[in-house]
Amino acid sequence: MRMTATIRRAVFPAAGLGTRFLPATKAQPKEMLVLVDKPVIQYGVEEAVQSGVPNIVIVTGRGKNAIEDHFDVAVELESFLQQRGKDALLEQIRKITEPINVAYVRQGEPLGLGHAVLATRNLIGDEPFAVILGDDVIDASPPALRQMIEVYERVRGPVLAVERVAAEEVSSYGIVATDDREDLGRRVHRVKDLVEKPPLDRAPSNLAIIGRYILTPDIFGALEATARDRTGEIQLTDGLRRLLRERPIYVYEIDGVRHDTGNKLGFLKAIVYFALRRPDLAEPFRRYLESLDLKIGVNT
Ligand code: UTP
Repeated sequence: MRMTATIRRAVFPAAGLGTRFLPATKAQPKEMLVLVDKPVIQYGVEEAVQSGVPNIVIVTGRGKNAIEDHFDVAVELESFLQQRGKDALLEQIRKITEPINVAYVRQGEPLGLGHAVLATRNLIGDEPFAVILGDDVIDASPPALRQMIEVYERVRGPVLAVERVAAEEVSSYGIVATDDREDLGRRVHRVKDLVEKPPLDRAPSNLAIIGRYILTPDIFGALEATARDRTGEIQLTDGLRRLLRERPIYVYEIDGVRHDTGNKLGFLKAIVYFALRRPDLAEPFRRYLESLDLKIGVNT
């Protein structure tokens, strides 16, 4: 395995069907749902760029053309904005495409996150890489992926992002049992075991795996050897559990605010959060929120 000093590529699995957002996702990829004025996936791509990883690999499937169009140069739009002297907008549009190199990999059938990562094998080759699940939008400084790369450069092994979640949430996540005999520094733990969506009484901790990973290329062999689960999917967590038999794996508690925009409530919270951080919107939006009658209910 080539031990490059840094991570050069970030994989964005985006071939899922987005069933939790139907009917919005019937003809539109969930990655293109908008938080204020940017599609969700653009937040993740900007995080990768700000983390020093401009090479983006997007795993797509049927009905995902809007993602490719979004990250493609829009010649007509650019010349229209230029002619009208709309320089600020033109700059914003150019900033989407200029700093990145994008490659697309097709996942023929949505057979799970592990299967989506496996589809990038030929493109990634023999080097470590990042995986970003765009649903998890993380507001952090330094950016979440940058924090993880710094940990990777120290431990030289797979690093999974984790967050401490409330007891009632552990059964919705992959949960990590840690081995803390070695002092790896603040927020870093060595993984002893991984348990997918355990009931609360069998959860070894409240450290939940969230949507950022730094993986080494031996994950591909592990995923290939991983059996499909009951639903017929190849899960990344199952591949990681197999890999754990062969090498140490680490987790890192991200320092930042994470929004799970993959469910409706998390998505709504993220819109409010990011709108309140926008200089052009914060003040009038805050006044609007304060004016709301929050006792309003479905029956009133
Ligand atoms: P999710 O579990 O959120 O599934 O996938 P989903 O299909 O996107 O959404 P729901 O649950 O039906 O609403 C986690 C990530 O893995 C990708 C998704 O696009 C998402 O980024 N994924 C999932 C794939 O790329 N391929 C798959 O086969 C499954």
